[in-house]
Amino acid sequence: MNIHEHQAKKILKEYGVPVPNGVIGFTVEELIENAKSLNTKKFILKAQIHAGGRGKAGGVKILNNIKELSDASREMLGKKLITHQTGPEGKVVKRLYVEESSSIEKEFYLSCLIDRATAQITFISSDQGGMDIEEVAKKKPEKIITTKINSLKEISNEDCENILKIFCLKEKEKGKSLLKGIYKMFISTDASMIEINPLILTKEKNLICLDAKVNFDDNALFKHPDIAKLRDFNEENLSEIEASKHDLSYIKLDGSIGCMVNGAGLAMATMDIIKLYGEEPANFLDVGGGASKEKVSAALKLILSDKNVKGILINIFGGIMRCDVLAEGVVNAAKEMHINVPLVVRLAGTNYKEGKNILDNSGLKIISAENLDDAAKKIVKAIK
Ligand SMILES: Nc1ncnc2c1ncn2[C@@H]1O[C@H](COP(=O)(O)OP(=O)(O)O)[C@@H](O)[C@H]1O
Ligand SMILES: [Mg+2]
Repeated sequence: MNIHEHQAKKILKEYGVPVPNGVIGFTVEELIENAKSLNTKKFILKAQIHAGGRGKAGGVKILNNIKELSDASREMLGKKLITHQTGPEGKVVKRLYVEESSSIEKEFYLSCLIDRATAQITFISSDQGGMDIEEVAKKKPEKIITTKINSLKEISNEDCENILKIFCLKEKEKGKSLLKGIYKMFISTDASMIEINPLILTKEKNLICLDAKVNFDDNALFKHPDIAKLRDFNEENLSEIEASKHDLSYIKLDGSIGCMVNGAGLAMATMDIIKLYGEEPANFLDVGGGASKEKVSAALKLILSDKNVKGILINIFGGIMRCDVLAEGVVNAAKEMHINVPLVVRLAGTNYKEGKNILDNSGLKIISAENLDDAAKKIVKAIK
């Protein structure tokens, strides 16, 4: 789950990590009223959307007084912002953040995330702050330092020194304290990424996080009701919201074959084999172990709501999930919705025969497949 910059900064502050003072507003009036409490010569107005690259797209403005702030807010609120991270459809700005301005001496890049390959919490640091880190990685890889942390309890002084060395700071203690705060927050909140770009050294020689992007592990959100409340449905893909209501693990992708599978591993294998036969999956969807008829229906509706879907592949191994339950769910959903794309079904395991009977007698045009390989070949052929 992603949160907004202002929310991320509030949490960072709770962990003792320095951030500028700032206030939010959902209307211009609210923002201006709140901004009166700020102590600053210039106001930094920042559009709150779940995407970076706002600066270049007009989503970050420096204003000299309340009048300018009010005019700029009026212009920014409700506007669609297109940045290199939003995609061409952009995102509508529904809330604004205004903060005190900082005098920037140097800009750095700092992030903390999980390196899945080594299963370690990892810090990435660079002196190329404020830039797109993917670009830096491509063009100047020597400007990026990766530090893997060995302890889950705390980050050692040695780790801190390694992370900080590329910043060439005199303010080492401030750097260490900031890193310890970020690490503590990462562990305590079950974050999956904390990215500070830029982290700055001010003219007064303080380290401050000027931007903050934080993601949390969805599977750990049940432990953090306060964080779960920060979820902004406006920022999320509608179909993914629908999926989470039905407790389905669904990720929308760009391909044309909709997949309904039980088990994440089998779902990955199904996506792989679709690619192997030259097509692209439209989604990842794991209906889970003991899915009900209702859940299966919801899953099929979700797949069909994607306009790019030209065919559907259902691949179920009946273990805890019974094939007849799956088949009933498919038939129910198919009756409610008009399925006019090819549907290939591969069933194996518990109550396989009963499941196949239900499908065969449903009057639906279903192509049945013997195994995963056969299923992938059939669906790819069917959509051609
Ligand atoms: N409080 C602030 N004081 C001074 N400059 C700021 C402040 N916040 C942001 N900036 C400047 O604006 C740039 C873009 O802001 P940032 O929050 O990184 O947005 P984005 O990454 O979405 O473009 C920063 O790199 C920094 O130079
Ligand atoms: Mg930024």
